[in-house]
Parts: sequence; C-alpha cells; structure tokens
Amino acid sequence: MSVLIDNIGELVTNDEHEGDGLLGIRRDVAMVLEGDRIAWIGPNAQKPPADTRIDAQHRAVLPGFVDSHAHLVFAGDRAAEFGARMAGEPYTGGGIRTTVAATRAASDDELRRNAKRLVDEARRQGTTTIEIKSGYGLNVADEARSLRLAGELTTETTFLGAHVVPAGSDPDAYVELVRTEMLDACAPYAKWVDVFCERGAFDGDQTRAILEAGAKKGLQLRVHANQLTEGPGVRLAVELGAASADHCTHLSDADISALSGSDTVATLLPGAEFSTRSPWPDARRMIDAGVTVALATDCNPGSSYTSSMPFCLALAVRDMRMTPAEAVHAATAGGARALRRDDIGVLRPGARADLIVLDAPSHLHLAYRPGVPLIQNVLHNGVPQ
Ligand code: NIG
Ligand code: FE
Repeated sequence: MSVLIDNIGELVTNDEHEGDGLLGIRRDVAMVLEGDRIAWIGPNAQKPPADTRIDAQHRAVLPGFVDSHAHLVFAGDRAAEFGARMAGEPYTGGGIRTTVAATRAASDDELRRNAKRLVDEARRQGTTTIEIKSGYGLNVADEARSLRLAGELTTETTFLGAHVVPAGSDPDAYVELVRTEMLDACAPYAKWVDVFCERGAFDGDQTRAILEAGAKKGLQLRVHANQLTEGPGVRLAVELGAASADHCTHLSDADISALSGSDTVATLLPGAEFSTRSPWPDARRMIDAGVTVALATDCNPGSSYTSSMPFCLALAVRDMRMTPAEAVHAATAGGARALRRDDIGVLRPGARADLIVLDAPSHLHLAYRPGVPLIQNVLHNGVPQ
C-alpha cells in the first residue's frame, strides 16, 4: 500500500545532502511511502498518485522521535518520593529498591499492561522508536522476565541487571551473578547491556567487568554515566566503545575530550534533572566540543516519570541552551546514533517510514509552545497510529 503525504510546508529530513542546515530542511515538498519505507520525496508540484493521501496543509513533518533511554517494565508508584524531593529531599537512587519490590510482586500481565500504556502514551507524543531496559527485577528470573516482556514492545531491549545491588545482597557476589548466570538468562532477550556506574551503585571496576562479559555474549554497550557525581563512567563508555553514555550531568574536561573524539553519543535526559531538581547537563559545552548529543526521556517511576519527548526537547532548549534545531536533531538523528541505527531518525528514500506531522508550520513550535499537544499524525512503519 502506498501513502502520499503532500503539501508539506517544512520537511525535517536530517539529511545534510538534501536540505538546509543541521536539519536538512526542505520546503513545499511531498513524500510517498511504500509499505514500511519512504519511496520518494520531491517537489509538491511533481507528486505522483498513491493509494491513500494525507494532506499536511503546509504543516511541518519530522522524523518520529527516537527515545533511546527508558525504563518501562515496572510496577508501583513513587509519587510520594517526588513530593518529598520537591520539599527538599535529595535524589539518591535509593527508591529503585521500592520499585524492585513492587515489580517482583506483579504478574506478567500487570507489567505488560503498564509498559504498553507508556509505549502508547509515548507514541501519541511522537515517539516511533523506544528503547526499554530491565533493572527492576534484580534476580535471574525477574530480569529475564522483564526483558521478555520488553521484547514484546521493542527490538531495542537493554539488560540492566546492574541497576543497584538489591537489598540484602553482597555487592561482589551480586556483580558475579550479573556477569554469569543472570547474563546467560537475559542475553537471548537483550540487544544491549547497561550499568548504572555511580557512587552507591557500581564502581568503575564492577562496571567494566559486567560490560566486558556482556560484550562477550554479543550484547552492545551503553552506560548510565556521571548522573549524580563525576566518576569513571563516561571515560569507560568511550574506552569500551559503548554506543552511548547516558545522563552526562557531571563532566570533567577529560570526559568532554574523550567523548568528542569518539563514536559514543552523550545521551542527555533533562526529564531527570527536572524531576530531581538537579543541575542541567552542559549541552552547550558538549556540542561546542563536537560531541554527538541525543535527547531521551529516561521514563521511569523514580527520577523522570515522563514519556514526552516534546517536553524534554523544550527543557533542552530553554534550560540547556540548545537551539531548537539542535534539540530536534538530538531527539531524532541523535537517538538513532545512540542506538546505532541508520534506518530511523532520518527522512530519505529507503529509510523507515516513521514520521510525525505537527499541528504547526515549523519544528520551532515544539519548544516555542511547550506543553501544547502539537503531534497531529504519527506514522510508524508507514502505518498511521
Ligand atoms: O536513569 N539512575 C539510575 N536509574 C534511573 C532511575 C531509576 C529510579 O529512580 O527508579 C535513571 O535515572
Ligand atoms: Fe535511566
């Protein structure tokens, strides 16, 4: 089945060879989708016929958002923890264990329903690809179960058995469990392995041991790095060739120069800084140093309970001093780089037909009109959602 989208006022292609500026913007164009791929993009006046038609009415069309960092397999609610934080309590990551208890006690169907609800919520806000981590099971059976359920919703599944050391476990024995028996049980369901490298979670040596074991099992690497304090996470991510170092809130000059000479993307998660009242990552310093930046939600019940990429994008522009174009690029092409994908985050013939039509004439409106539901149409694999 072919779909014609015509009368596109502004098309964000992220294809620097085809359009203007960082976003590869083209104006007054039309696009034809065939099945799950883009078949043709050209001047509106030359549009070919197709089976069905979407009239964009001179609005903006963008690649669907690529949310490369989310923790959606969980049960329970930590609104009270958020309330306490807004009254002055610090965020420590300690609440993760509360979610672990609720997750272990939940049925497969409860976990499935909650994760699906969040994926649908994200989709309505323009997200067409979402990564989903485990990390609230923290034993062999519940981590494997979390990843099996995540795999029902996305191909971008991440084993995060090393989220924290579960209550009552010896840290060394737990690291050993994660890198052997738990990894063996989880690897068949996971594409990625991740570690929360942080004071109070896992140190540099533990992180390295787990990531190296994951890589031997064929998993690709990503790291929760430098969220709450400066530490070895970012440099380790670069050294081990991780696709992404996520958070990057507390960076030294050495961290910035390691990232800038590497293929490791800095994935910034402003929803976490918003919800924990933490300092913003210095996106300007990273971008000016040549670091590739992605934006993602970090959707989870503790530090960032938002599924909204437009919200994160608006924070990045207003509070992290990214330009609207940089933020849109980071939320689409940047996310694709962080997942090492070249079929998404870009609109060109051959790419996946994952795209959004805004109820606005330009991508600028995403940050200009924060909190307003501007996502008019979402197409995923060429199918209107
Ligand atoms: O990315 N920092 C570690 N993990 C999550 C928070 C998880 C939670 O608080 O439940 C994060 O922010
Ligand atoms: Fe996270």
